[in-house]
Amino acid sequence: QDSPANHLIQLHEGAQKLYHHILMNTEIGQPALDYLHQRGLTDKTIEDFGLGFAPDQQLLKQYFDQQKVDYQELRHTGLFIENQSGELRDRFFNRVMYPIKNESGQPIAFSGRLLVKADDQPKYLNSPETDIFNKRRVLFNFDQARNVIRKEGAVILFEGFMDVMSAHQSGVGNGVASMGTSLTEEQIYAMQRVTKQVYVCYDGDTPGQRATNRALTILRDNSSLALGVIQMPEGMDPDEYRKKYGEEKLASALQSARETPIAFAMHYLKSEHDVNTDAGRLEYIDQVLNLLATVTSPVEQDVYLTQLANEYQLDKGSLK
Ligand code: UTP
Ligand code: MN
Ligand code: MN
Ligand code: MN
Ligand code: MN
Repeated sequence: QDSPANHLIQLHEGAQKLYHHILMNTEIGQPALDYLHQRGLTDKTIEDFGLGFAPDQQLLKQYFDQQKVDYQELRHTGLFIENQSGELRDRFFNRVMYPIKNESGQPIAFSGRLLVKADDQPKYLNSPETDIFNKRRVLFNFDQARNVIRKEGAVILFEGFMDVMSAHQSGVGNGVASMGTSLTEEQIYAMQRVTKQVYVCYDGDTPGQRATNRALTILRDNSSLALGVIQMPEGMDPDEYRKKYGEEKLASALQSARETPIAFAMHYLKSEHDVNTDAGRLEYIDQVLNLLATVTSPVEQDVYLTQLANEYQLDKGSLK
């Protein structure tokens, strides 16, 4: 079909092939390939996700100019930045390129990661929204994950693209990620079409825990999905965990580190209060009680009440 959208997709396919070729087969791509290998990604994973490298030489612009692609069309790809005189320059340079794909597996945008840390530039840069890329609708890796999600009966929601790729390489293929923003209704709707169960597995650091709390609230308010949390140990993210302990350990942690949203919320509330002071402890207990009041299963409520009572030598009856 020769629609404008299809043409935009074709241009992204061209860009992806070019970036991938540069990464795999050229001298200028070698540092980026070394970088990915150092992070422990295999060539199979690099191929499965179609990773590439954008060097610092306006290569994409030259590539499309050779093919005589129309200026207006190039403007609409989001792959270029227009300067004051209307000239187009490559948006992405010195970045490892992660293609963002639609549900059919076609590239519709890119996320580029800086190879070398620079203070004046964001670590990840995403394509802007275009006629084919609406970041509220896209889940990274949904195209490859969809069938695995169906088979496993659950989706795992990660914070970063690297975490999704780490899980995939470890044999856990039902992982997806939102586009570095909080979860949207459109993304929840996409997940709900294929499963009834979602596990939130964000980074183990403080921002990751806050984001988990936020994601659980959004999921609770906007879906009927059953919710679970996977807690990464030692404040790590799943990718760091794989790098440190290996793929088998990551795969088993993704199974064994599961907890209920209530158990997560109790840990989380505790970390947000100074429970060594009377005031902090009282507020913590008060908020846990509010939380437990929302639990409909009497057995589940009792389990956590008992836990709370034991933890602070309180009378369970009075807590109740
Ligand atoms: P993280 O800082 O946890 O990055 O941000 P990461 O995924 O662990 O990346 P690596 O391991 O350093 O390569 C989580 C997500 O937030 C978005 C990206 O989607 C990233 O995967 N993000 C982060 C941005 O969009 N821009 C940024 O500058 C940083
Ligand atoms: Mn290849
Ligand atoms: Mn993070
Ligand atoms: Mn991270
Ligand atoms: Mn990481």
